[in-house]
Amino acid sequence: MATAQQLKALLQSYSEADGEMFVSVALQIAAHEARSGRDKFAAELKQLVDEIKGKQRTAKVGGAVPMARPTGELATLLSATYPHTKLSEMVLAPSQRESLEQIIREYRQQSKLREHGLSARRKILLVGPPGVGKTMTSWTLAGELKLPHFAVQLHSLITKYMGETAAKLFAIFESMRHARGVYLFDEFDAIGSMRAGSNDVGEIRRVLNSFLQFLEQDDSDSLVIAATNLEEILDDALFRRFDDVIRYKMPSESELSSLVFNRLAAFQLSNADLMQVTDAARGLSHAEVCRACDEAAKMAVLNDRRYIIIEDMLRAVGSRQERKHPMR
Ligand SMILES: Nc1ncnc2c1ncn2[C@@H]1O[C@H](COP(=O)(O)OP(=O)(O)O)[C@@H](O)[C@H]1O
Ligand SMILES: [Mg+2]
Repeated sequence: MATAQQLKALLQSYSEADGEMFVSVALQIAAHEARSGRDKFAAELKQLVDEIKGKQRTAKVGGAVPMARPTGELATLLSATYPHTKLSEMVLAPSQRESLEQIIREYRQQSKLREHGLSARRKILLVGPPGVGKTMTSWTLAGELKLPHFAVQLHSLITKYMGETAAKLFAIFESMRHARGVYLFDEFDAIGSMRAGSNDVGEIRRVLNSFLQFLEQDDSDSLVIAATNLEEILDDALFRRFDDVIRYKMPSESELSSLVFNRLAAFQLSNADLMQVTDAARGLSHAEVCRACDEAAKMAVLNDRRYIIIEDMLRAVGSRQERKHPMR
């Protein structure tokens, strides 16, 4: 049998989500069993450990929290990934960048804060129009903090039965305690809205209340992120429950030009052309500008060019504008 020390180490590694330690302790136990002549049991343990290692390998980054793949009901509620997105890839307004840097700094030093009775900000609300980097922010926080990213599948969460939805929400908040990660409630307005639908207002309201209650009680080490396009329909009570609210806007002129510059960094584009593109892209979201850049980049790649033809780029931008304002 495993020794008391080994069992303790095993539980400790689980509570700290330390996958490497878990595997190493489990192997020690297997070796111990083999030495005690229980070869069959030792081989079974070894095989289980190999399976765990195989699962971990896909999620391996230096010092990263290993991925705990959601199982059972959670598998339909959470979509797990391991993003490598970095803050430097994002084009942000200075105040947004500061907020994100602050969250990262506090999270990295949370034990230091805890020693002084302080807690790192972990519950973040992201508000702004579509395509401005809210979802990307959630990936970035996971990437920078080397945490797995769990996107809550709202369509699986919200069912006709209130009790069922609340039970599912509870399962998600439980998971936050056991599987440390970034938990994203994207398109949060689906539960955050006050005036959604007509006759299911009461239901949504109650789901929202359970969400708020769970959020308030949550003292896990996970980051909880909610993102929404619809600030005006979000309840005041909601804003108060988050540690931080970050607001996103459509890109400014200098942000537009940084987006184009970054996205087309692998190609040649003159300054004059960059200015012309920025001008034409006014009013587009970050996401739309990125897509227009990708279209022009594809034209270059398919024609074996290292440079962007300005007409390709303007056409791509124009068609994004056209989609946005078909009446113009
Ligand atoms: N601030 C940004 N900086 C760099 N790229 C961005 C930014 N915002 C959006 N993008 C690009 O557009 C894509 C879609 O953005 P997304 O984060 O889904 O927007 P939102 O969640 O606000 O609707 C991103 O994956 C990224 O390629
Ligand atoms: Mg989004």
